Amino acid sequence: MKTIIEPFRIKTTEPIKIISKEERIKALKEAHENVFLLDAEDCCIDLLTDSGTGAMSTRQWAAMMLGDESYAGSKSWKHFEKTVQHITGIKHILPTHQGRAAEAILAQTLIRKGHVIPNNSHFDTTRANIEYVGGIAANLLCDEGTDTADESPFKGNMDIEKLEACIAEHGKEKIPFAMITVTNNTGGGQPVSMANIKAVKAVLNKHNIPLVIDACRFAENAYFIHEREKGYMGKSLLDIAQEMFSYADGATMSCKKDGLANIGGFLICNNDSWAEEFRNLLIIREGFPTYGGLAGRDLEAIAVGLMEALEYDYQVYRQATVRYLSERLIDLGVPIVKPAGGHAVFLDARKMLDHIPDLQYPGIGVVNALYIEGGVRGVELGSVMFGSFDENGREQASPLELVRLAFPRRVYTQSHFDYLVEVIREVWKNRASIPGYSITYQTRFLRHFTCHFEKV
Ligand code: F0G
Repeated sequence: MKTIIEPFRIKTTEPIKIISKEERIKALKEAHENVFLLDAEDCCIDLLTDSGTGAMSTRQWAAMMLGDESYAGSKSWKHFEKTVQHITGIKHILPTHQGRAAEAILAQTLIRKGHVIPNNSHFDTTRANIEYVGGIAANLLCDEGTDTADESPFKGNMDIEKLEACIAEHGKEKIPFAMITVTNNTGGGQPVSMANIKAVKAVLNKHNIPLVIDACRFAENAYFIHEREKGYMGKSLLDIAQEMFSYADGATMSCKKDGLANIGGFLICNNDSWAEEFRNLLIIREGFPTYGGLAGRDLEAIAVGLMEALEYDYQVYRQATVRYLSERLIDLGVPIVKPAGGHAVFLDARKMLDHIPDLQYPGIGVVNALYIEGGVRGVELGSVMFGSFDENGREQASPLELVRLAFPRRVYTQSHFDYLVEVIREVWKNRASIPGYSITYQTRFLRHFTCHFEKV
């Protein structure tokens, strides 16, 4: 088999600092045992997120120099609008500074108290934006999606029966729109099949409920459809993306993912009256509708990046890096979510640290051990990020206790991943000595960003 190489060469470098284990222990202590509170320069391989952390191409940097910084109707806006319309076929395009700003506008214009918003799995900011306005975020993921060992090809699919039951239970009047997240970040970066998007749309159509796609990783999803779904092998990723969006009435997007940019997002829709309401709020919160919180140069970089994310060779290389890491971890016997997701490898912390109960956060145990062992920063996607409280205020564990090692786009090379395998191997070997954690300080929303931990 031929080695799949990075389809680019490196033109600019950024030094990485490697501090000692003692320094890392001290830094983590000062960060209240929460890796979100570390200084980034103290993390030698930073896999906290694939969001906004990618390397831009020469074409993107060149496009930035063409940035038209006119307040209204700039050339860069036209480039951005035309590109988003080309990929999505959707009429109204509203730029935002990132994905959650699009979610906030969507939630604050369309959701009232008691409304229910179905999704395969809501991302944390989506859920927070819905709950902030009194809505209920319903996760209707297919059963395979919560079984980390199940190797089904489309574990991000929504469960159609659960969707029908949700509509029957709450009634369409309580459901202003439904969402589907491609790929399903919180469930392991798993893709959604075209057949599932179509089936979701068919059910929603019966009840006149619009569909909004959370499109952050639409190009990775298109790649998985190309590789895994019958009938798509000969198509371009652009064709596949266009078909995906043809079933949508709108979308929210974080261009920090498949926009291959460091900042940016958009909110799009076909409905004229939605667009008017969105624009009213956009002007107050983000900016004039032709820049929406972004500089002209950002709009340019995104317009180029969105098309680059749909280049087949780029996706082949990206998915090869994910596979490279996941296959090595499987060989070592480390429990991970299978098959590997699109933007990350997810360690199954519940299975790794079976001596730690869910509410002592095994994911935090693994994240902190990875940092101390090798300066690698990952993120917990488990009971800290997704836990909830029942009506008696008792904390409920998350269905999954995962640790995500997200891959910044076009940033790390194979030797970084070899080092990472060595770090994980040590953590796995010494897993019996990893402690559980308790929370000593937390906020009401999105507590994982700022909470403080203490070893149990
Ligand atoms: N939806 C999904 C599926 C996401 O993964 C994210 C961000 C957002 C919405 C919000 O976008 O950050 O631009 O406001 N995910 C990042 C992550 C933060 O690390 O997975 P944003």
